[in-house]
Amino acid sequence: MKHYSDIIPDKSHTFSKAHHQYPKGISPLTAKKAYGSKLVTNLGEYTDWSMGLGPVIKGYNFKPLNDHIMNRISSGIAYSLPSDFEFDVAAKLLSAVNFGDSVRFARNGSDVTSAAVRLSRYITKRELVICNGYHGWQDWFIGTTTRSGGVPESIKALTKKIEGFNSNELEEMFHSNGDEVACLIIEPMIGDEPNLEFLKLARDLCDKYGSLLIFDECWTGFRCYKEGAIGYTGIRPDLVCYAKAIGNGVPVSAIVGPKNFMHNFEEIFFSFTHASDPIGLAAAEFMIDYLDENFFHTLTLKTKNFFEKIKLELKKIENPKYKINATSYPGKIVLSPFEAKMGIQLKTFIQKEFLKENMLFNMFFAICEDHNAADIDLALNVIQNIVLKLNMEDFDLRNDVKDQLVSPVFRQQK
Ligand SMILES: Cc1ncc(COP(=O)(O)O)c(C=O)c1O
Repeated sequence: MKHYSDIIPDKSHTFSKAHHQYPKGISPLTAKKAYGSKLVTNLGEYTDWSMGLGPVIKGYNFKPLNDHIMNRISSGIAYSLPSDFEFDVAAKLLSAVNFGDSVRFARNGSDVTSAAVRLSRYITKRELVICNGYHGWQDWFIGTTTRSGGVPESIKALTKKIEGFNSNELEEMFHSNGDEVACLIIEPMIGDEPNLEFLKLARDLCDKYGSLLIFDECWTGFRCYKEGAIGYTGIRPDLVCYAKAIGNGVPVSAIVGPKNFMHNFEEIFFSFTHASDPIGLAAAEFMIDYLDENFFHTLTLKTKNFFEKIKLELKKIENPKYKINATSYPGKIVLSPFEAKMGIQLKTFIQKEFLKENMLFNMFFAICEDHNAADIDLALNVIQNIVLKLNMEDFDLRNDVKDQLVSPVFRQQK
């Protein structure tokens, strides 16, 4: 069949969108078009809770944004010189995030996290990197994961990953390697409210050891408030990376910081043909205005109400083996099984239950403006059903998901 053609390895360009991330046999495999919160697929129309893995914060196919982009395209793209337009959008971004006085644009999150790491190595003349989350596909990060094939051992040795927000581990790592650490790059929030104690410690340790603190706000930027985690937590890093929501799905990313650090980009190489692509910049220009106080106020309330109801339902799960945790920050809710060894089975089961109601779900709700009360009510119904089934005496999870198991993105590290 054409859709499943082997001309594309893995049949997907993005690991988390691939067929192995959804239960076998019942999941749609390809998208045809999208609008609002809906995805039209090879199996019909679905309410999408992944929203392109986070970028789509307003909703799909938003006409005023499309018009704005088309208008920009009519002035030409891929200019052979820097454009006045990119200076305008850079100034707009700086005033929106209220941080730094210098910007470099790019396309993907990986572009800017990797640029930040290279910049920190250049400034500090050190090589070691500490990180805590997911930061992209490049060697310096992916070498810390179980999908590190093709990454040289010498590169792997230069990045150390700590588990989430483990302060002891962070302190220990700085105590033993502090003088070699170029930067600590962290996701300041990972699907949960911030751990302020950890973030303050991160700031203090970087100051003490002369390392740069980089916030990877590819998820949180322009989702958890306009100013992202820096506004939400009040903790000031040295550099911030933005991607995803800043373009509502149009590829654009940015690294922001003070001139005294950023001017070093004049010395090192961070350059590619489409770095200042006007289509992405037009999307950012439009979205920065669109995502105003009112937008974030409404999104925050919507998330909170939904989250409280989810937590109430999940509390009713009786079997400790089947317990599911819910965490959240404004714009995102994450479900995670308590027992890691039940993770894949429970994930598959939960996804199956959502799919039955034509909802595409990958263990997180990336809430957008176009998710309406009906979408939320239906998702809550699905969660109620999940709890009911998990509480049934004769429910056999293994049997329910037999032959349909999804694959972990990264296998559990021993
Ligand atoms: C926190 C974070 N940083 C960086 C990235 C990499 O972004 P991209 O996939 O656009 O290169 C991602 C992607 O999911 C991410 O979630």
